[in-house]
Amino acid sequence: MSDKKKMNVRLFVPNVGQEELDNIKDSFDKAWIGLGPKVNQFEQEWREYIGCKASVGLNSATAALHLALAAFNFPEGKKVMVPAITFASTAFAPIYNRLEPLFVDVDPETLSLDLEDMERKYTKDVVAIMPVHMGGHPAQMDKIMDFARAKGLKVVEDCAHTAGASYKGKKIGTWGDIGCFSFEEKKAMTTGDGGMMVSDDEDLIYPMKANRWVGIDKDTWKRVGGYTDKAVDARHWHYDIAVLGYKYNMNDLAASIGLAQIKKLPGMNQRRADIVKRYLKGMEGLKSMKPLFPYNADENNYWIFGIHYAERDDLILYLKARGIATSVHYMPLPQQPYFQRWNNNDTPVADKIWQTMITLPLHSRLTDEEVDYVVDALHSYEKENQPKANATIE
Ligand SMILES: Cc1ncc(COP(=O)(O)O)c(C=O)c1O
Repeated sequence: MSDKKKMNVRLFVPNVGQEELDNIKDSFDKAWIGLGPKVNQFEQEWREYIGCKASVGLNSATAALHLALAAFNFPEGKKVMVPAITFASTAFAPIYNRLEPLFVDVDPETLSLDLEDMERKYTKDVVAIMPVHMGGHPAQMDKIMDFARAKGLKVVEDCAHTAGASYKGKKIGTWGDIGCFSFEEKKAMTTGDGGMMVSDDEDLIYPMKANRWVGIDKDTWKRVGGYTDKAVDARHWHYDIAVLGYKYNMNDLAASIGLAQIKKLPGMNQRRADIVKRYLKGMEGLKSMKPLFPYNADENNYWIFGIHYAERDDLILYLKARGIATSVHYMPLPQQPYFQRWNNNDTPVADKIWQTMITLPLHSRLTDEEVDYVVDALHSYEKENQPKANATIE
């Protein structure tokens, strides 16, 4: 190892501080921390930020993806197209809804749905497509929407890895019928855990507010005023349960954090973009490693900075020894034990390409010094491992 001081470089770090604490304190002072006015306010600010008509705050993107598909009430057993490389929640959403995930191979550039494979695998049983904006790199939404509209399919965008970027001049999350965002602690912005469903069709997603709140058609915080209001009759406590409900609501503590984070989001996105550019510049001259995507940091909001390298495990160990955290996003889902029954061994690109993928540290608190430390480690690895470094990558 070089004589440089060893650093400890984390993969993802939430950027939270005094502003979030001040907002939480306000909720404590008001003594309302459950589903309440802050959730309402955060939903409104998110709508304005994304530029859409309707938004529903949830406790996760997993819940958002579940309810997004539930909104269409598809007949049981129908199929939903999902890219083979994604987080489990994308493929669980159809299963929660008694639908079948249909794994589509990935495009080697976007690591999202491969258009040709999507067309090849289409049958009359397919009712929806779930494009994932993998790592923040946009799926080819114009083409996916053309295909979906031609076949009469619904589209739910999984935007868990990006927040606020546009694709071909239109905000990501507004291309499909519904977009789902994640505010889990490691994501582009956080509420601890949290998610949001957005749409331009209010009639499509606002009924899901009951499904997120154990089937109850009225928000408790709006009803409580009636508990003591003399003008209201004795039925102020009444609500209807007409749908299958889940306990999926966002709460005011999470929304308090979100209201501070949404103000910081443009700055955090900018910082990540600068880091991506620094990595790309630093990687110039490396022969055996290449960036995970054709990164365009001026256009897209990235959550993952990754590389391809043939001897992945070897490099991961080398970086680990230098205090540099890494990960792999993701092993193809059909290879996971639970998803075996949907594995038709027909996603060859995903099965090959994931074996060279490594995720490197990227978050808005990463310093230039830390980025340079990671880049130096990549260069020194390549120098020390010439024979291995000559192995080919796609
Ligand atoms: C692509 C993708 N979709 C959905 C989710 C689920 O998000 P959440 O943790 O908010 O439920 C994740 C989480 O990592 C993800 O990576």
